[in-house]
Order: sequence, then C-alpha cells, then structure tokens
Amino acid sequence: IGQDSVEVLGHTYPRDDVTNITPKILAKVGRNLHNQSHHPLWLIKERIKDHFYGAYTGRGNPLFSVHDNLSPVVTTEQNFDSLLIPADHPSRKRGDNYFLNRTTMLRAHTSAHQRELVRSGLDRFLLAGDVYRRDEIDATHYPVFHQMEGVRLFTNHELFSRVENGEDLSLFEAGGRRTAQKQQCHTLEAVKLVEHNLKSTLTRLVTSLFGKDLEVRWVDCYFPFTHPSFEMEVRFRGDWLEVLGCGVMEQELVNSAGAGNKLGWAFGLGLERLAMVLYSIPDIRLFWSQDPRFLQQFVLSDIHQPVSFQPLSKYPALHNDISFWLPEDERGREAGRESGRERYTENDFYELVRSIGGDLVEKVTLVDSFSHPNRTCEGRRHRARAGNQTPRGARPRSAVSHSPSRYGDIPLKQDVRVS
Ligand code: PHE
Repeated sequence: IGQDSVEVLGHTYPRDDVTNITPKILAKVGRNLHNQSHHPLWLIKERIKDHFYGAYTGRGNPLFSVHDNLSPVVTTEQNFDSLLIPADHPSRKRGDNYFLNRTTMLRAHTSAHQRELVRSGLDRFLLAGDVYRRDEIDATHYPVFHQMEGVRLFTNHELFSRVENGEDLSLFEAGGRRTAQKQQCHTLEAVKLVEHNLKSTLTRLVTSLFGKDLEVRWVDCYFPFTHPSFEMEVRFRGDWLEVLGCGVMEQELVNSAGAGNKLGWAFGLGLERLAMVLYSIPDIRLFWSQDPRFLQQFVLSDIHQPVSFQPLSKYPALHNDISFWLPEDERGREAGRESGRERYTENDFYELVRSIGGDLVEKVTLVDSFSHPNRTCEGRRHRARAGNQTPRGARPRSAVSHSPSRYGDIPLKQDVRVS
C-alpha cells in the first residue's frame, strides 16, 4: 500500500484532497475500549445494558438489542445526510472530523447508524461505539471517545394503548404546523407522551447509575435529526454537567428508514463523561492507559460495586533494593534471649518504611532472608512472595549490604524491595 491510500480495519481507501486522518488516530481504530472486559468504559456500558435489560424485559426477552461491533468507518452520507444535517452545517467542517477521503470518514457520533438499524427492522436498540472528532487534547477532551446511542420507536397502539380512550388518538395529523413543541406531521398528544417516555427513561437510567440524590435538569436545544431536542445536565461538584443529547426523531428520518408508521425518540450519551463522574476519573486520557495500576482498579466481581478511582503517580514505579544484616541478639527464634525486649520482626521494617515513605510506598517485599551458615546450627533461607526472586543459590548483590565481618557476630541478612 503506497502513499496514495489509507488502510483501516483491513480495508483500503484511496486518499484525496480531503484526507486528513493521521497515524496516531489510526492506531486507536480497533482498540474498542468499550469491548475490553473490566475497562471502565466497558463497565459503564454493561451497567447501562443491565439497566435496560432489567427495566424492559418482557417474557424473559430483552426488548432492546445491543450493538457494539459496528465499524467506525462510515460514509459522510451516513454521518451527515442520513441525519438531515444540511450541506453547510458547521459539524461537517473538514477541520472538525477525520476523513479517509471525500466520501468516507471515522464516525463523529453513533447517530450515524440510526437509519441503517431502523431500516433493518429494529425498533428498540442500544448502540455503543468509538467516535472521532478533531479536537484539542486536555483533561476533558480527546479526539477519540465513546458514545451510547439509544432508539425507541412506537406504533400507534404501543403509545396509546394505556391511555383512556387511546384508540381515538393518532400519532400523525395532516395540516398541522411545526412549532417549538412538535413537528408538522405529529400530534401534540403523541409528542408529549413520547417526550415524557424519553425523559423518564433517561432519568431512571442516570438515577440507577448515580443514585437517587442526583440533581437532574433538562435544557432545550437543537439537533438537525430530532425535534423537539433536549440535553440532560447533572449536578456534579457544584456545576451542571451536560451528559447527553436527545429528542423526538425527525419523522423524515424515520420515514426514510422505512418505519413511516412509527414515531420515536433517540438519545446519545458520552460514556467517558459518565465514567469520569461515576468513578471520579480526573483525566480523559487515563481511559487509554494500559497501566495495570489504572486497569486493576476496575476489575470487580460485580459491575455494580462502587469504584472511587485512586490517582496514579505521573512517574514510573521506582524500586529500591535494600539489604541489611541483623545483629545476633535481634535474630529470630534461633538465638536464646536474656533481655525481655521483643526481637526484630518483618513488621518492624515495614513500620519503619511507612513512617518515612508514607503513601509514596506502594509495597515492601522481603525478597530473601539468609542465615550465615557458619554462625547457625542449620543454614536457613526463606523466600518471600515477591515476583522478583533470586534463583536458588544466587545471592543478590546489593550496594547497601554490609559484610557480616564488619559487625563480627551478625548472622542474619535481609534483602528487601521497597516500591
Ligand atoms: N449525536 C448527538 C451528539 O453527538 C447526540 C444525539 C443523539 C442527539 C441522538 C439527539 C439524538 O451530540
């Protein structure tokens, strides 16, 4: 493959004057953090799935199907046109998106798949995926992030069957007007019911994630593919934080997907945003960390177990190997003792390290313990649990180890690693 094409997920795309994808971004395609077991984005995806399964299971079958393996490579038609985004809309700017070429791009939102999934016959689904937007990089912005899309369509019967005299009501009307509240072809009563269902569905979702005390508010907004449209904000550390966009789907989109007898809602939420709030993750870049000190914190036996992320040092772990010899009268059980004072134990050393190093010290391991064979009845060595063990017979050499002769009568040597 030469300079004139780009390869993504095994497919080759010819470059043209619009191509602006970079190797750094290409390296992220296929990482699929949302599908990596125990990754915090996977964890929050699983919790959302679990909530929808639990809340909407009819006769043992989940009513929302879940899709998390759709390729992020989409056509500009899928990402923009299918969603009625006008030709001159600012979201189409070359500078805000990653184009493989003039007609192909990395999706900028999971909404890019709404039409194809509705067209395939689905009327309730969740869709999780990686999305790409050219952006600056700081603690809350990263050019690759993850979204969860949700869509639910209603037939006339589904929406009105529980309403008194519901059989007299309709989803659609002729000769209506588009207002701030509704689209031209929708009846006000249908839209109000759908809007209420949408808002209560999402309120229940965030309440199940964050607990009952969470303050939530709805803000009117605009998307080309929904009307009316809303954003949900949650109160987080004193500020209002936007966590999702949603609304009543534009009927023209639903019709183009072959579901013209139905009316529906859609939402799209940012998984990083939710995970940062839920798990107290201070920096969006951490989601890309392969450091086990990050990932291990999310290895839970139950996805509902609370996690409060403990920040990592910016610096790599530092190990200090220390060896020291204990004087005869501090030795363990081998020697008889006259004085009443307790002899040295491993915990004495741990205590000493902790009193000096505090929380900077993550781990202290006894790597080896060595009794001078000439000074004891039987040679004694024991190896501690550390991964970094010395092979049997090979004595670790240490800069800080003192020779026994210097102290004359010192038979027990301790090799310790402080990390
Ligand atoms: N796709 C929108 C975004 O990324 C969110 C959205 C999804 C809004 C579905 C309405 C309906 O900002």
